Amino acid sequence: MTDYATILVTRDDRVGLITLHRPKALNALNTELMNEVVSAATELDADAGIGAIVLTGSERAFAAGADIKEMSSQGYADVVNQQFFAAWDNLTRLRTPIIAAVTGYALGGGCELAMLCDFIIAGENAVFGQPEINLGVIPGIGGSQRLTRAVGKSKAMDMVLTGRQMKVDEAERSGLVSRVVPTDQALSTALDAAKTIAGKSALASAAAKDAVNRAFESSLAEGVRAERALFYATFATDDQTEGMAAFVEKREPNFTHR
Ligand code: CAA
Repeated sequence: MTDYATILVTRDDRVGLITLHRPKALNALNTELMNEVVSAATELDADAGIGAIVLTGSERAFAAGADIKEMSSQGYADVVNQQFFAAWDNLTRLRTPIIAAVTGYALGGGCELAMLCDFIIAGENAVFGQPEINLGVIPGIGGSQRLTRAVGKSKAMDMVLTGRQMKVDEAERSGLVSRVVPTDQALSTALDAAKTIAGKSALASAAAKDAVNRAFESSLAEGVRAERALFYATFATDDQTEGMAAFVEKREPNFTHR
């Protein structure tokens, strides 16, 4: 595995783990960290031996947002010419399921990065927010869109306009996170979920992820049509034959991801 300066990357069997590691800056997302996360996630995604990825931070902070110190000297032309933050969009192209294990602060770009993942497992100490308004800016890694789709217009407007923080109970109630667990179990719970996913057919997982994502990108009718085509396509795989044979024969399936 490549050596990185701002993240740690490990793997255990079919699960890849990316840990944000800028402890002195509460994992603030600078350009180096963005490029490293995208590079590591892309490398894991291309590895046929990896069936799921977990992205996490530290107990105190998943990530406290984009790096304000890096951004503070930038002007309009700078951010436009660099297409600042655009590289984060690469995470939307991963075929491998990716889970965010969030403990501590997930603010601004940190909240947006968690929402770029397929689902969020949160520790009880997790805090979410889009405080960019306090800095005279607005979310820039998809927060205004993904938060609105996750929690609805009223709560998203409230969060984005006031910059207030949302504790984990509210985050679970409003559908932002899939599960809340004790803080010291957030990572292990996410790794267990990743292991479960990695034990399924990778082709079926990618199709399932694609199908659910269509719900955010198309009309209901188009989404259902896309789902049907993806469903039919799973019948071209060895894993469909194996999965159904295993059920009929009352045994565990042995998926080959073919
Ligand atoms: N960028 C750069 N450095 C940051 C940072 C950030 N987003 N968040 C925290 N840090 C740094 C602090 O400057 C501090 O560094 P020093 O010790 O060198 O001063 C260190 O991390 C520890 O932070 P605090 O001392 O502030 O810790 P705290 O426990 O008192 O407060 C906090 C924690 C409430 C998260 C506070 O740090 C904070 O409000 N951070 C900024 C949150 C924010 O505004 N995020 C949005 C950024 S903009 C954005 O994300 C744009 C976008 O849409 C992509």
